[in-house]
Amino acid sequence: MKILTVGDVVGKEAVGYLTQRLGTFKRQHGIDLTVVNGENSAERNGIDPPSASALLDAGADVITTGNHVYRIPAVYSYLDDSDRIVRPVNFPGDSPGRGYTVVDTGSFRALVINVLGSVYMEGAGDAFSSVEAALRTAGEYDVSVLDIHAEATSEKAAIARYFDGKINVVFGTHTHVQTNDAQVLPKGTGFITDVGMCGPRDSILGVISDRVIDKLRLHLPARFEYARGNISASGAIFTVENGKTVSAETVSF
Ligand SMILES: [Fe+2]
Ligand SMILES: [Fe+2]
Repeated sequence: MKILTVGDVVGKEAVGYLTQRLGTFKRQHGIDLTVVNGENSAERNGIDPPSASALLDAGADVITTGNHVYRIPAVYSYLDDSDRIVRPVNFPGDSPGRGYTVVDTGSFRALVINVLGSVYMEGAGDAFSSVEAALRTAGEYDVSVLDIHAEATSEKAAIARYFDGKINVVFGTHTHVQTNDAQVLPKGTGFITDVGMCGPRDSILGVISDRVIDKLRLHLPARFEYARGNISASGAIFTVENGKTVSAETVSF
């Protein structure tokens, strides 16, 4: 079984890019399950119902999110209603949406969990115990995937190694920069620190470069707008056989 994870989709143009390209890419690589981080897929930070629906139509089986999930209030009821999108599992239980989901692809059942880091990030509960609780209560599934949406490489590695052998695929998101460490951990969990983004390359993490430079250089408040053009997608493909991940490789398209 082949699992594709795609990093943070930045802006509507990137959603359109996946609409055009994701289906072909999945067919070429024989992908069985696709998980896409969509927390920045609206016009600005956040996700809205049209971009979520478009990502699912483009070929995502499940959308994961992160710290920007609640930027756009229109998505709250969408999060409550759809079992194809998850928000961090370490938010309070009565926050909109769900922290994990089990989807039936027709061939197998996939558990997908989303968790938010706490190093250099704020507002979420303990990641380790929240994911453990999700594994305990998820019921029956054939394969499991965890998106760690976090800033610190050490925290992502710690969570991945803590769950080595208990979750098939653990992938990091949020930094928008793909790391060169796709690997299979000793007990058979596939892991990458960050899969990168699907967004405009001529930018700083997807944002118009001058806006970020001015903010950091002049300390002025800046309106972060997404750059345009030059879109590409970054991700990773994990091959799972008999309950163990046997290969992990980065991809871009
Ligand atoms: Fe992001
Ligand atoms: Fe984020």
